[in-house]
Amino acid sequence: MKAKTLAVAALIAATATTWAAGETATTTAETEAPSVSVADGLEAWSRIYEVASHPRCSNCHVGESGIPMWSGPSYGKTRPHGMNIAAGESRIGAEFVTCATCHTRSTQGNTVAHAAPRVDMDWQLAPAQADWFGRTSQEICSQLRDPERNGGRTAQDIAEHLDHDLILHWAWDPGGGREPAPYSLQEHIADVMAWGMAGMPCPNG
Ligand code: HEC
Ligand code: HEC
Repeated sequence: MKAKTLAVAALIAATATTWAAGETATTTAETEAPSVSVADGLEAWSRIYEVASHPRCSNCHVGESGIPMWSGPSYGKTRPHGMNIAAGESRIGAEFVTCATCHTRSTQGNTVAHAAPRVDMDWQLAPAQADWFGRTSQEICSQLRDPERNGGRTAQDIAEHLDHDLILHWAWDPGGGREPAPYSLQEHIADVMAWGMAGMPCPNG
């Protein structure tokens, strides 16, 4: 795990210099040539979309409903989380039963089939604005590049956030017979960086 984190840190450091030059391309795409072509950026985006729309990610990235989903190969039929779970505006279930009641905090994952997944941070839904479940590639792309709706992040901030977030590490190693998110965390981070350097292109422009 340590080696993995270091490799990712090295990747970010290696791309940071290029990034500094490429950063303005996201805002002044017409005047500055992006350091990654738009075509390559769109290819990176299509892989990012495969990840974002995968159940290991989108089951938590639901909108205003605040209801996590159970879906994907190991879940049979797609359906709302059992036991009438709702996250409420708090997104952690504070108004009802908190997610942490079952998704306890631990450095040891819970790999028993059908047991509640756990990581060493508070389990909770993503912000309602990061509403990805059942959304199209264009919809998710527009949200992720919009600082008004993505927590004010640049693509580099997103890439760094991905490395820090233990829930994301879980999504690639979910245990309990669940299908992991596609590609790997490192590949996903590299794709987010490349997409950013291409000016965050979306399929419909
Ligand atoms: C257990 C629920 C959960 C799962 C599963 C999950 N996320 Fe999230 N996600 C969150 C929470 C909570 C936040 C808000 C964290 C923050 O802003 O610090 C978040 C925020 C994000 C953000 C910040 C962007 C934004 O618009 O706010 C990105 C990018 C992201 N997640 C990607 C992913 C990816 C990729 C996966 C799958 C590999 C994934 N998430 C799986 C809960 C989840
Ligand atoms: C009463 C216990 C309980 C509570 C409370 C609870 N969960 Fe769960 N959750 C479970 C169990 C058990 C599973 C595993 C189901 C399975 O694998 O068949 C699960 C699975 C999930 C999954 C599916 C993970 C995947 O594989 O994609 C998500 C997402 C999730 N919960 C989110 C939440 C959120 C968000 C909250 C709080 C709003 C919450 N849960 C509250 C018991 C609970």
